Amino acid sequence: MSKKGETGITDLPGVGAATAEKLASAGYADLLSIAVSSIGQLTDAAGVSEAVARKMIQAARDGLDMGFQSGIDMLAKRGKVIKIKTGSQNFDTMLNGGFETGAITECFGQYGSGKTQIGHLLAVSCQKDDPDCVAVYIDTENTFRPERIAQFAKGLDLDEQQVLSNVKVARAFNSDHQMILAEKVEDLIKEGLKVKLVIVDSLTAHFRAEFVGRGTLAERQQKINKHMHTLAMLADKHNLCVYVTNQVMAKPDAFFGDPTEAIGGHIVGHNSTFRIYLRRGKKNTRVAKLVDSPNLPDQECIFNVLESGIEDA
Ligand SMILES: Nc1ncnc2c1ncn2[C@@H]1O[C@H](COP(=O)(O)OP(=O)(O)O)[C@@H](O)[C@H]1O
Ligand SMILES: [Mg+2]
Repeated sequence: MSKKGETGITDLPGVGAATAEKLASAGYADLLSIAVSSIGQLTDAAGVSEAVARKMIQAARDGLDMGFQSGIDMLAKRGKVIKIKTGSQNFDTMLNGGFETGAITECFGQYGSGKTQIGHLLAVSCQKDDPDCVAVYIDTENTFRPERIAQFAKGLDLDEQQVLSNVKVARAFNSDHQMILAEKVEDLIKEGLKVKLVIVDSLTAHFRAEFVGRGTLAERQQKINKHMHTLAMLADKHNLCVYVTNQVMAKPDAFFGDPTEAIGGHIVGHNSTFRIYLRRGKKNTRVAKLVDSPNLPDQECIFNVLESGIEDA
């Protein structure tokens, strides 16, 4: 979706600086977010009347070219996709070359299955072919370790200081903070940073901890949905790779197969382009299983996490 002309939020009817600020603080930072919102959401967020909200939505829709693209355009766009390599041949082959830009890839699995290690590794390897590439790491569990970045950089023969300077880390203290940080990534791009990777580790932990009990489930899912929508927009608009990690929980009704399932249910599953299930294998190996992909078959590979990187087991 491209903008027609230079219409911004303050060009919408009834939106002055004060309203624009209210909208921005409620997460409505661009035309698209207004174009797809409801009248009720806007009256809540900006304190405007229903009539004004209706006009704003209409003007935002008019200001956006919400049209269709041909298959040729889409193929050209696919041609711009970059694949970030893991270093494990089998893992990369399973993903048809690596972790894709323009998509959200989710790794889910138990503690110690390697989700965070993969995040660190990608933050380094996305810089391998282009030293200007920047990785953004939204750390919700306080497990980001610059030492690991340095080790992986060494493993890939890259300058440790240079690589570290191109990893931008923010600790998210709660789910709202996490959502705002994701929205702020756009600001980094506007400042001129070449962000090629956004990591959210973990996507679901804060939401899971904050929304407990049955009555809160709908609100939790709605928020996760909104958050993932922000991430999907970033991936699509800026051709960057989004990598999210997710935990698993025991499935009490499973009699056969794996008794665990990913947190976040359908909302997370449907918003992720690729889903990978990680688990520990024999002799300290890790097993990655591609369980959902728009264009690749379900398959499995085995790898090792080493100090210097990830390699085939
Ligand atoms: N420096 C290292 N060298 C080799 N293996 C490591 C190193 N650091 C961590 N690991 C491996 O990674 C595991 C932790 O994986 P992690 O990605 O943090 O799991 P999670 O899925 O919970 O995010 C450790 O148990 C260890 O096996
Ligand atoms: Mg982790």
